Amino acid sequence: MKVGILANGVVAAVVAIPIVRFVLSALNRGKQYRSWVTLGPAGQFPEGETRLATFRNPYVGPTDGKTADTACWVRHIDGNKFQVFAINCAHLGCPVRWFPQSGLFLCPCHGGAYYRDGSRAAGPPERGMFEYPSKLENGLVLIQAGELPTPGATSKNFSSGPCGNGAPCGPCGKASPCA
Ligand code: FES
Repeated sequence: MKVGILANGVVAAVVAIPIVRFVLSALNRGKQYRSWVTLGPAGQFPEGETRLATFRNPYVGPTDGKTADTACWVRHIDGNKFQVFAINCAHLGCPVRWFPQSGLFLCPCHGGAYYRDGSRAAGPPERGMFEYPSKLENGLVLIQAGELPTPGATSKNFSSGPCGNGAPCGPCGKASPCA
């Protein structure tokens, strides 16, 4: 009888441990997997142009290898103003490509299109491109990486719905324009 109770306790502990770890990891999500990484000197990104950049994901596993090298699109608007977009389409994640001739990002998979500011232009994506928080520091362009941007960090220029209708708007994810 006592052996049965002990065995049940062991099984309960074995089942509970991953559940507790999952819950705790969810609480830490967003803190533990984000850090600022450099994309290089601002001079690499001429004003008025959009260029491809790569960075190494700051949180890599031992078997990640080259898959931890991540690409993104850097748009130098002017002066200190930059936008950095995830390369993945907001529809199903295919890598989008920038076409300076038309001033559009185009997705080869299902024809999604975005304007130069990352807002949705056409096709199946329901929103603008995902945008990394970015800043200029000591002449370097930095982004907050480690976690792919998600709908909580939508493009500043998300144009699929007006702000204030309850839908997330802006990189802060609030239902009103971010300060
Ligand atoms: S993945 Fe880009 S349009 Fe579908």
